[in-house]
Amino acid sequence: MKGAKITAVGSYVPQRRLTNADLEQMVDTNDEWIVQRTGIRERRISREDEYTSDLCAAAVRDLMNRYGKSVQDVDMILVATSTPDMPFPSVAAIVQNRLGIPQTAGVLDLSAACAGFVYGLHMAHALIASGMHHKVLVIGADTLSKITDYTDRSTCILFGDGAGAVLVESGEQDNFRGFNLGSDGSGGHHVYLSGLADQVNGVQLTATGKLVQNGREVFKWAVRTVPQGVQQVLAKAEASLAEVDWFIPHSANLRMIEPICERLDYPFGQALYSLEEFGNTSAASIPLALDLGIRQGKVHSGQQVLLYGFGAGLTHAGLLVRLSLDPQTGEPAPL
Ligand code: UT7
Repeated sequence: MKGAKITAVGSYVPQRRLTNADLEQMVDTNDEWIVQRTGIRERRISREDEYTSDLCAAAVRDLMNRYGKSVQDVDMILVATSTPDMPFPSVAAIVQNRLGIPQTAGVLDLSAACAGFVYGLHMAHALIASGMHHKVLVIGADTLSKITDYTDRSTCILFGDGAGAVLVESGEQDNFRGFNLGSDGSGGHHVYLSGLADQVNGVQLTATGKLVQNGREVFKWAVRTVPQGVQQVLAKAEASLAEVDWFIPHSANLRMIEPICERLDYPFGQALYSLEEFGNTSAASIPLALDLGIRQGKVHSGQQVLLYGFGAGLTHAGLLVRLSLDPQTGEPAPL
C-alpha cells in the first residue's frame, strides 16, 4: 500500500461582501440575532457571471503560486460541490481545461454536500493507496448564493460562496491516519434543492429552485452524530483527542461547534472555522478554515488536523491527517 500526504493548500473567495447590516435591509432580521444564533458576521457573494469553476480555478492558482507546485502531472481532479456551473460537463472537467491540466487526468464531481471535501480526501487517499493514482487535486467549492432564497430569513443569513483546494501526493509514509464515513438518507428532506423529482422519502418537496432547510432538525442530528463520528475516526487511527492539534468541523454554525467540542471534551480554542467571515460555504468551509489557520500562522506542517464534514443527505465524513506541506515560496493571494 502506498502512502499519501497533503502537500499544498490554496483558497479563493469572491470580492463582494454581504454583511449582517446588508441583510437587515433585505429581510426581517438583525445583527444581534444572527451573531448570537450563528456567529456569522459576513459572507462573500459571487458576481452574476462568476461560477463554481471560476472559484475552483482561482483556489488552485493560489495553491500553485504559494507552494511552487505544477499541476502538469496531476492524474485526477475531484471537485466536491452542490452548485456545479451546470449538471454536465462537470466542474472538474472545466477546471482541467481552464488550468491546462493534461488530458490524461481523470475528472469527477462529487455530491456529498457539506461533507463533500472530506469525502473527496477519502477518495483521493484510496486512489493513491491503491497505487492507481499519484497526484490528486481535491477541491471543495460552492456558490450557494445562486441557490439561496433571499426572502427566507432562516436560510439567507447563513450561506456564502468560496473554494478551497489541496494537493494530495503519493509518498513513502501514509499521513492519512483514520477516517469515518456515514449517512442517514431518511433525513434527506431536511435540507434539499429540488430537481427532477418533487419528493424524497415520500415527503413532498417545495420546488422553489432554491435551497430549503429545516435547520433545527439538521442541528440536532449533527450535534449528536459528529462527536460519535470523531470517536470513530480516533479509534480507527488508534489515536487520542490529545494528539489532535486542530479540530476543523464544517462551518455551519458556531452554536453547533461549541456543544460538539463540549461533548468531546475538546478545547474550543483549538477548533478552527471559517464562518465568521465567510458564512456557511458548504464543501468549501473546511478547506477555507484550514487555509485561514495557515494564513494566520496557527496551523503548521507536521501538525495533525481532524476534519469533520456533515450536511445534506444526510451525510457525514471525518478524517485525521498529519499535514506535510511543502515550504511556501510565494505569498497567498489576499482573501
Ligand atoms: O450546512 C448544512 C447543514 N446545516 C446546518 O447544519 C444548519 C443547522 N441549523 C442551524 O444553524 C440553526 O437551526 C439556524 C441558524 C438555521 C436557526 O437557528 P435556531 O436557533 O434553530 O432558530 P429557529 O429556526 O428555531 O427559530 C427560532 C426563532 C423563530 O421565531 P419564533 O417562531 O420563535 O417566533 C424564527 O422565526 O427565530 C426566528 N428566526 C429569525 N429571527 C431573526 C429565524 N431566522 C431568523 C432571522 N432573524 N434570520
